[in-house]
Amino acid sequence: MPLIDLTTVAAASREAGKGLGAFNVVQLETAQVLVDAAAAAARPVVLQVSQNAVKYHGGHLAPIGRATIEVAKAAEIEAIVHLDHADDVELIREAVDLGFTSVMYDGSHLPFEQNLATTIEVVEFCHAAGVTVEAELGEVGGKDGVHAPGVRTDPDDAADFVAKTGVDLLAVAVGSSHAMTERSADLDLELIERMAATVPVPLVLHGSSGVSDAGMVAAIRAGMTKINVSTHLNVQFTAAVREYLTANPDAVDPRKYVAAGNQVVRAEVERLLGLYAA
Ligand code: G3H
Ligand code: ZN
Repeated sequence: MPLIDLTTVAAASREAGKGLGAFNVVQLETAQVLVDAAAAAARPVVLQVSQNAVKYHGGHLAPIGRATIEVAKAAEIEAIVHLDHADDVELIREAVDLGFTSVMYDGSHLPFEQNLATTIEVVEFCHAAGVTVEAELGEVGGKDGVHAPGVRTDPDDAADFVAKTGVDLLAVAVGSSHAMTERSADLDLELIERMAATVPVPLVLHGSSGVSDAGMVAAIRAGMTKINVSTHLNVQFTAAVREYLTANPDAVDPRKYVAAGNQVVRAEVERLLGLYAA
């Protein structure tokens, strides 16, 4: 299927009151695992390559980016290739040149005016190329490894930010935080409802690994659209690899133990996509 832009798919999900699963591509083959899971669930999927993943891949976006784009093009469901959490504008330009259909410019750690100015610049060149832009207002913390759910985005500030920048999706802080290995985050559902009523573009929930199944369903009902999950899948992948290696201490072929991890991730993504669309 030809690549599709995130604006169209997110708008359809929002309209239907369904969540759109967005998962991080960590290794080259993760993209195929995610697409296979989405095909089994008959749901669209966002394949996200983060700036941190680019760093992990030796600072090179092209190999993992091109591979992910090829996997998305060969998919039988709608798959979006998205650059996640980028604060490097040159990397965003490279993603656009490579054919990514969506990017996230993350200036949430910057003072409001600076976040605004750079987001406007990114929207200008991305929209000229037909590429969707997600931005973040109100920092979703936790990248320091500590659950930091304190920050909240104000709905009026969010609406103002969208009007001034022209972004297509907005990530907001509503009680989640990144990199949680337990699903114990307490989301502010009343704030999500007010945000969805005030902000005219689809909302993005970051750090969804820390949110329970019931919490994600409630967040989608309250108005969240794009649901970003990464750590939760890493937890499952690593547990499956550990289990395989413990049961097979003489194993040396990475295809064997990586496959064990991939199998578990595929099943969990299929399950989550079903949950988001229920
Ligand atoms: O942008 C990616 C997500 O926000 C993933 O966060 O690893 O806490 O699920 P997570
Ligand atoms: Zn995030």
